Amino acid sequence: MILAIETSCDETAVALVSDQGDLLQSTVASQIALHAPYGGVVPELASRNHSKDLPCLVEACLNEAGAAVSDFTAIAATSGPGLSSSLLVGDTFAKALALSRDLPFYSINHMEGHLLSPFLQLRSAPIPPHLALIVSGGHSLLIDVKGIGDYNVLGSTQDDAAGEAFDKVAKLMGLPYPGGPEIATHAQSGNPKAFDFPRSMVGRPDLLFSFSGLKTSARYQLEKLPQPLEKDTRNDFCAAFQEAIVDILCAKVAQAAEFSGHRVVAVSGGVACNRRLRERLVSQEQQAGRDLYLVEGEYSTDNAAMIAYAAFRRRLAGIPSSSMHRDINPSWSLAEPIL
Ligand code: KG4
Ligand code: ZN
Repeated sequence: MILAIETSCDETAVALVSDQGDLLQSTVASQIALHAPYGGVVPELASRNHSKDLPCLVEACLNEAGAAVSDFTAIAATSGPGLSSSLLVGDTFAKALALSRDLPFYSINHMEGHLLSPFLQLRSAPIPPHLALIVSGGHSLLIDVKGIGDYNVLGSTQDDAAGEAFDKVAKLMGLPYPGGPEIATHAQSGNPKAFDFPRSMVGRPDLLFSFSGLKTSARYQLEKLPQPLEKDTRNDFCAAFQEAIVDILCAKVAQAAEFSGHRVVAVSGGVACNRRLRERLVSQEQQAGRDLYLVEGEYSTDNAAMIAYAAFRRRLAGIPSSSMHRDINPSWSLAEPIL
């Protein structure tokens, strides 16, 4: 079985995938409560806690799976993109383990993990060529996926990522971190037409995103409202803001699918667990007659199951393991070679 470790940001995660692609274990130790008082991730705190939690998490994962270190056939870790001090903990731990057991090591791009996460259920069945949308706290990417490791970035964001926009606007509203799930919860009882937000970049011929205008619009509108916001106003504001992001993402998916000619669309990343986005994508893709693979909620935010699965897929595709001399790369782009 393959052991994978993910410590790119504020989640310490460990997972086991069998050599047939079955997910055997996936454990995530979230640091959300630790960083919440600061309104965002504190890198120093994150890495210190990864070092503290990781050995126990690996041990717990093995115990729950009834497995031993001698069962490992390969070790994988996220080597980028992410916070360097956090990446170093998981990457070094994984390399040390691989070296000591003389096992192949797979250096995985965190975004490749997200990219393949909607296909976890397929196990070893072929992954179709597709259009991928990854929407997380750090990235908004549209990718033409021809095969494992064959990724062509069609569009990305010029400023904030979709998740970042959720988090920043939530902060402006005084909502706790992380803001995405907070806004999504309040939006459920709000009226999405009560406020007007721009749909930036929609209708343009390119596949770029921009969410900073949306954030600025939120700030100006909030400044005109009596504070603290009344409950109904807060819910309406959340619903209208969420609807604007969902409109933009859906429009760009449709445009990119037309452009690339793909009949299969896969959506992943933390924002992919947003219920409104999921509903709208299901109906849009059904109407367009395209197959939609939506990551399961549990694997949309950061986890190690997607990292283990990416390593499994690489092995299956005959892609060689990584060199032990390969260092972490905090700004590793999916457009760069994966080896
Ligand atoms: O993929 P992820 O766990 O971390 C990164 O790799 O960035 O994504 C985290 C992001 C955060 O910005 C968070 O606010 C957002 O995903 N998020 C959501 C929801 N749940 C998490 N955004 C909107 N609606 C949600 N339900
Ligand atoms: Zn992520």
